[in-house]
Amino acid sequence: MQLPSKVKIVDVGPRDGLQNEKAPVPAAVKIELVHRLQDAGLTEIEVTSFVSPKWVPQMADNAEVMMGIKRKPGVRYSVLTPNMKGFEAAVLSKPDEIVVFAAASEAFSQRNINCSIEESIERFRPVTEAALAKGIRVRGAISCAVGCPYEGEVAPERVEMVARLLKDIGVQHVGVADTIGVGTPLKVRRAMEAALQHYDIDDVSGHFHDTYGQALGNTLICLEMGIWNYDTSSAGLGGCPYAKGATGNVATEDVVYMLHGMGIDTGIDLDKLIDAGKFISDFLERKPNSRAATALLNKRAG
Ligand code: HMG
Ligand code: MG
Repeated sequence: MQLPSKVKIVDVGPRDGLQNEKAPVPAAVKIELVHRLQDAGLTEIEVTSFVSPKWVPQMADNAEVMMGIKRKPGVRYSVLTPNMKGFEAAVLSKPDEIVVFAAASEAFSQRNINCSIEESIERFRPVTEAALAKGIRVRGAISCAVGCPYEGEVAPERVEMVARLLKDIGVQHVGVADTIGVGTPLKVRRAMEAALQHYDIDDVSGHFHDTYGQALGNTLICLEMGIWNYDTSSAGLGGCPYAKGATGNVATEDVVYMLHGMGIDTGIDLDKLIDAGKFISDFLERKPNSRAATALLNKRAG
């Protein structure tokens, strides 16, 4: 056991969380969510994605959202860019980091970004080069790292391959993503070990959707490996439009509650985080999809 003493959380709620919402969420609400997250102590926020508005209409206001944020020093604002067109649009709003997103499954790559894994890497190559030349950090995501909605179980060798391809084109950090939340701890550990063949422990993160309620267990096994970077979503928002049935990322509130309970520092104020999750849940007219937030809100009320 080599538990980290601190963990960095990227709140992906404004992007991964809201991309799947059918009803439009106004840019002002997205901006307010980002403001509340940064006030709660989040130091990295995945704000939006520069993808085709025909594919993901909810993210069509990407530039408006990025330009509307009152930036807080020390906070990194990241955006998804699938190709040069997305990167060129994104760069105008000065992201600190861009995310290129590949998949460990061919079928998911086709459904999500309309190309093969190999073609996606060729699209990410100039994006990565252009970003690094401008001093913008480049993170990669490996979707379907343990399971795919179209292909079923995914072997760790696939994750190893995609990690190697991303490393070869200069991607600095890689997120191992359980897109549909089917992973269980030992499978997730094997996927992580595959990514760690090409990336240092500091440059690998966990991105776990919580569809089957496994995300905290998956986070815990990664903590035991020494992995200290995680993507989570306030109020457990979200899902991917191209992974039907998959629910949101593990709630930031639940992960922060677990980490603080283990004596691991996050720099996040859990009460303010719960308020941020409550804000967006109220707007969406639902309860936060977080056990910790529900328990603590009940405690406040009672
Ligand atoms: P395509 O149709 O193959 O693209 O889409 P194309 O190059 O053939 O262009 C077709 C049209 O799209 C053209 O417009 C382009 O200009 C336009 P037209 O001439 O027909 O009017 N276009 C764009 N417009 C805006 N921004 C762009 C862009 N690129 C082309 N960047 C594309 C390819 C990747 C764009 C498309 O498949 C797409 O947008 N997919 C959406 C993917 C997505 O956002 N998925 C959800 C995020 S990933 C995720 O959630 C997983 C993650 O959380 C990790 C995990 O959990 O696994 C990260
Ligand atoms: Mg995701």
